[in-house]
Amino acid sequence: MQVLVANAQPEARKIAEQWVNALPLAGGKKLAFGPAKTAAGARMLVFTLNAAPNPQLGAEGYTLNVTPNRIELAANQPAGLFYAGQTLRQLLPPTAELKGNVPVATCKITDYPRFGWRGLMLDVSRHFMPKEDVKRYLDLMAQYKFNTLHWHLTDDNGWRIEIKALPKLTQVGAWRVARTGAFGNFAPPKEGEPTPYGGFYTQDDIREIVAYAQERHIQIVPEIDVPGHSMAALAAYPELSTQPQVKRYVDPGTRFAEWGPNGTFKMFIENTLNPADDRVYAFLDKVFTEVAALFPSPYLHMGGDEAYHGFWERDSACVALMRREGLQNSHELQSYFVKRVGKIIAQKGKTMIGWDEILEGGLAPGAVVMGWRGTQGAIAAAQQKHQVVMSPTTFAYLDYTQGDPTLEKPIYASLYLRRSYQFDPLPPNVEARYILGGQANLWTEHVRHLRHALYMTYPRAWAIAESVWSLPARKNWDDFARRTEAHFARFAAMGLPASRAVYDAVVTTRTEGGQLICQIDSELNGLTIHYTLDDSFPDAASPQYTGPFALPPEATLRVITYRNDQPLGRLLILSKEELQKRAGKQRPWD
Ligand code: ACM
Repeated sequence: MQVLVANAQPEARKIAEQWVNALPLAGGKKLAFGPAKTAAGARMLVFTLNAAPNPQLGAEGYTLNVTPNRIELAANQPAGLFYAGQTLRQLLPPTAELKGNVPVATCKITDYPRFGWRGLMLDVSRHFMPKEDVKRYLDLMAQYKFNTLHWHLTDDNGWRIEIKALPKLTQVGAWRVARTGAFGNFAPPKEGEPTPYGGFYTQDDIREIVAYAQERHIQIVPEIDVPGHSMAALAAYPELSTQPQVKRYVDPGTRFAEWGPNGTFKMFIENTLNPADDRVYAFLDKVFTEVAALFPSPYLHMGGDEAYHGFWERDSACVALMRREGLQNSHELQSYFVKRVGKIIAQKGKTMIGWDEILEGGLAPGAVVMGWRGTQGAIAAAQQKHQVVMSPTTFAYLDYTQGDPTLEKPIYASLYLRRSYQFDPLPPNVEARYILGGQANLWTEHVRHLRHALYMTYPRAWAIAESVWSLPARKNWDDFARRTEAHFARFAAMGLPASRAVYDAVVTTRTEGGQLICQIDSELNGLTIHYTLDDSFPDAASPQYTGPFALPPEATLRVITYRNDQPLGRLLILSKEELQKRAGKQRPWD
């Protein structure tokens, strides 16, 4: 097969070469680029940037036409041509190496995205992710046509980006004491304890990663999370808080906050910047000057989430500022801060994005709102004619667990694949023009390395990818589940992990007439479920589940899924106490 580039277009040639170089032909062979005229009947792969744009396709759409002798990829813009290549790659078999003739089903595809913001957020503060791993994460995002990496670069547990004017941010703020075990319950640093754990990206690293992402048509939107989540910055520059006298450290994952109902919280240690101190704004000006110069994205994210106001409310300078500015409460004080940050970001020629807390106390002009606490905040922002990105915990939080709580240590909440697939970034009664798109967020308190990051990201990111690309009417759970399994095979061929929790049985219970009734489901349709109540281990010869049953007193339920006589899911062992605990809870996707 020869590769042709229409009219020798240099941008199409670049994408064609990228595609050919990524193709794993046996023995490291490469497809050859052919001359403009080839023999009649020769098999050809043709990359074309449309001379006259096809208005249906927009900037990211493409056509892909496969006939017996000719594969044609065409788009208006390089991004679309790149996506045509990703789709073609998915039509090839899931193998580490392609040998001999590879059949590609004939097809004629016209495809374009529903939303222009198709994102994943990666938290590299809680655990630093080396540069090469970030690139791998980007590679996989691009394969699924994500075009935005929201990069959470700062938090209480590490400051990850070199700022030349503020060297202590990384000299001090990027490193912490080492701890293993359950993040959130770690001991604070001992006196004089070394801080070997962490890392940061130099500005050269950042430029390299930004260029790598650009080659894959991904914009990187950096987040500097202020005024809260700033313990690492304050470890470096304690004078920027209302509590400069407090002994400070980069948090290794201690329990420094207490969470109450409805998202309320209290911090034991002040981790916010002082909104009443002009040095804070001078500091942020320096930070955003360098960040803006490093990232070509038009957006800068300033966080704004979960800022604790308890220390502000007791601080005389904050109280005086509130009086002077006529601020009625601490939300208005935070809004004052956010608006000043918005001005700094605007001076750098960028549009500010913040988490939906920036609505409270009044939105800054022109700010983009990223909705995470359900959809209400984002809906309110859209009604105020602000652009929004939808990223609700209920569908899009990749740090939540995907399987039974006895198998996966509960982290805040659980989020099953089948629920993620229900994500629609366009809420009812909102004008579509205010919805930039959607994204899923991987917070990494409990995620220490790339393989775990991938386990948490996939397959749910596939559900999100489809939700931000395709119209809801085109979505179909069973078809998605079938394709998910095909992509499990692709990941396996690449030696990459993805969670297979979707194969596990899902057990819910209810009490009825003094008895505990067990209901067993599977997320995937078409599995058979075998279980025991007699402490033996279930296999294909064990009783098959056909409907809810009463748990005999003191029995333990053991359950596993099968398909075609092969075990698929993980074994669940659920004690009576565990089954009682979940009584009355719905199936996780209902
Ligand atoms: C967030 O999850 N704190 C935005």
